[in-house]
Amino acid sequence: MAQFILPPNSRIKQGEHHAAPEGVANTRIFKVYRWEPDSGENPRLDTYEVDLDTCGPMVLDALVKIKNEIDPTLTFRRSCREGICGSCAMNIDGRNTLACTKAIDEIDNEVRIYPLPSMRVVKDLVPDMTHFYAQYASIRPWIRTQTPPPPDRERLQSPEDREELDGLYECIMCACCQTSCPSYWWNPDRYLGPAILLQAYRWVADSRDEDTGARLDDLDDAFKLYRCHTIMNCASACPKGLNPAKAIAELKRLMVARQ
Ligand code: SF4
Ligand code: SF4
Ligand code: FES
Repeated sequence: MAQFILPPNSRIKQGEHHAAPEGVANTRIFKVYRWEPDSGENPRLDTYEVDLDTCGPMVLDALVKIKNEIDPTLTFRRSCREGICGSCAMNIDGRNTLACTKAIDEIDNEVRIYPLPSMRVVKDLVPDMTHFYAQYASIRPWIRTQTPPPPDRERLQSPEDREELDGLYECIMCACCQTSCPSYWWNPDRYLGPAILLQAYRWVADSRDEDTGARLDDLDDAFKLYRCHTIMNCASACPKGLNPAKAIAELKRLMVARQ
């Protein structure tokens, strides 16, 4: 029988409880994963009672309020606060999503917040994106051409060709899909995962790109592409409503078509 030995930091302790100030009636409990790797301590789940009457409506608003008013050591990423930069991706109420577009009201009872699953944690809610970005760089995500550009203008695209990029160009590289994919959990070093494959297809689908053959050659690998088993977690996780599994299916179809 297989035996799994969990690393010591897989055990999460009950952490500190930060009660709301006296007289505050409209509170919501937030339980937030905390881990300082250099401390040698196990991760812990801290509890914060947040006054909703003085807090914005989104989970990110609550995290900012906690950091500003209760516990400045809480660490997380955010930038745009409107679902564009992808930096506030985390696991909220059991689902990967963006803290800035997740309304507190959508969650019943206490709000549980963890970092994105399956990635190394840098600190608290901050995942290490190094490998993810290296995988992105590996597909060389820019227009690659064989012919010289027209001398007097940019490379043009018809409205119909531009529409082919709908459902692809909106990807903000938040990694919500990537880290919800069981195939990626098991093979993160060799499987490119849904976000990177959606991006790979985005360039294949671009009428201005002239390197489709080399792009497909690079993906024609038992692990890079074919570890997708159409489980569809990626599509249900994407906070932008995109469907990486469909893009992956298109890549597989093109692989067959060119044989
Ligand atoms: S459809 Fe493919 S990429 Fe999406 S979650 Fe399933 S295995 Fe992963
Ligand atoms: S496909 Fe969606 S979930 Fe995946 S990285 Fe792009 S925006 Fe994020
Ligand atoms: S802060 Fe930019 S997507 Fe949430």
